[in-house]
Amino acid sequence: MLELVGSTPLVRLRTPGGENAAALYAKLEYLSAGGSVKDRIGLHMIEQAERDGLLRPGGTVVEATSGNTGAGLAMVAAAKGYRAVLVVPDKTSAEKIATLRGFGAEVVVRRSGLPAEDPENVFNTAARIAEERPGSWLAGQYDNPANPGAHYATTGPEIWRQTDGRITHLVACVGTGGTISGTGRYLKEVSAGAVRVTGADPAASVYSGGDGRPYFVEATGHVRHPETVEDVWPTSYQQDVVDELLPVSDREALLTVRQLAREQGLMVGGSAGLAVAAAQRVAAGLGPEALVVVILPDSGRQYLSKYFNDAWLLRLGFLDGEEGGPRVGDAVASAVREEPLPYVNRLSTADEALTALRALRDLGLPPVAPAGPCPVGPGRAPTVPELAGSLSLDVLATAVAEGALKPDDLVRDHLGAPLPHFGVGERADTALVELEESGAELAVAVRDGHGVALVGRSALRALL
Ligand SMILES: Cc1ncc(COP(=O)(O)O)c(C=O)c1O
Repeated sequence: MLELVGSTPLVRLRTPGGENAAALYAKLEYLSAGGSVKDRIGLHMIEQAERDGLLRPGGTVVEATSGNTGAGLAMVAAAKGYRAVLVVPDKTSAEKIATLRGFGAEVVVRRSGLPAEDPENVFNTAARIAEERPGSWLAGQYDNPANPGAHYATTGPEIWRQTDGRITHLVACVGTGGTISGTGRYLKEVSAGAVRVTGADPAASVYSGGDGRPYFVEATGHVRHPETVEDVWPTSYQQDVVDELLPVSDREALLTVRQLAREQGLMVGGSAGLAVAAAQRVAAGLGPEALVVVILPDSGRQYLSKYFNDAWLLRLGFLDGEEGGPRVGDAVASAVREEPLPYVNRLSTADEALTALRALRDLGLPPVAPAGPCPVGPGRAPTVPELAGSLSLDVLATAVAEGALKPDDLVRDHLGAPLPHFGVGERADTALVELEESGAELAVAVRDGHGVALVGRSALRALL
């Protein structure tokens, strides 16, 4: 079993760049035994811990993981007779969680999007479990040298051999940074510095200069919660190896995923779509002598309920919808252009929130706003995961008048339920029925995963 980790094939991709484009090859990590690039580090980290005496027979492997590292660790643990406890954020796809349980691991689910200092976030929970359970070892992929070490020892040499030393450019995602650091370092050393290394990064990720707000491509990049005091980057990410980082939007990554499946027969995950989108940019114009290798971390079959599900994509505004009847976007067309979605930070005081809501009323807008953990600011459209609740002028003013809330109190403990949301490409008639059934008057219209405007029942009705 363990000999089937890694040794994955390279396959040539068609590129849109024409004659001037470099040859582009994809390394298919989903063909490793456990189904992802993370098998390599699962095996390598466990064997290093055995050598260091940190993991002994009958011991337990513990890790905070978005799924693939968990599958790699759980598979290796099962094959070697260890127990595994894996802590995953609740945004992890159901398929990934079922896989971990299938390998016999215990899965602990914790809320995503908690600040680094929150004792209940996935990392602090995993560290606590490893401390409390005798015989446990915390794998710690973010800061374990055996993570980049696995790629230095295996992924890099495989690519060098498979391309007969002709590789000129490497493109990979950056999550823990293990893949790009280990593979990139090996390829730079063996080529005397000739191989250029590009990181593909979600546009909102802080690695490439984004503000760290949540995004929809799973398991790569680095999110920063606005309430996190100190933003710590993993030491598995060795920045000196990376020559440049290319930001890629969720839309471009997800549309690339669908294109790869439909036009090239490759069903891969969101981070693979992101990496290929960046690699196509790198390959364009390099000339036919160059040879670009892009690492595709996992299979699309883990994301059938998301990236390959039209209903999911439509609801988040990643698809424009079919031609024909009126769509939600038609109801908000003017608002989308002229008014950014009003939005209140959940750390605002009651006084600040009342001022913001009265300003909306005075503009003739509904005096209701979504609320969540991002700073308020012009043009700062919150992403769907940030739509944590809602505030209404009536409810808030009454709470202050009755003394339930003082003007200086934070509104975070007084939020109403989140408003429903619809993608701009969804049909207006079905959205209206759903809105009426929900009991809400207003919904957030969403484009590319971001709230762009409020849309009311009457605006939808007027289209029909
Ligand atoms: C699907 C997927 N893509 C990309 C990455 C990022 O790889 P790395 O952590 O080596 O930077 C991961 C890591 O978990 C992953 O699971």
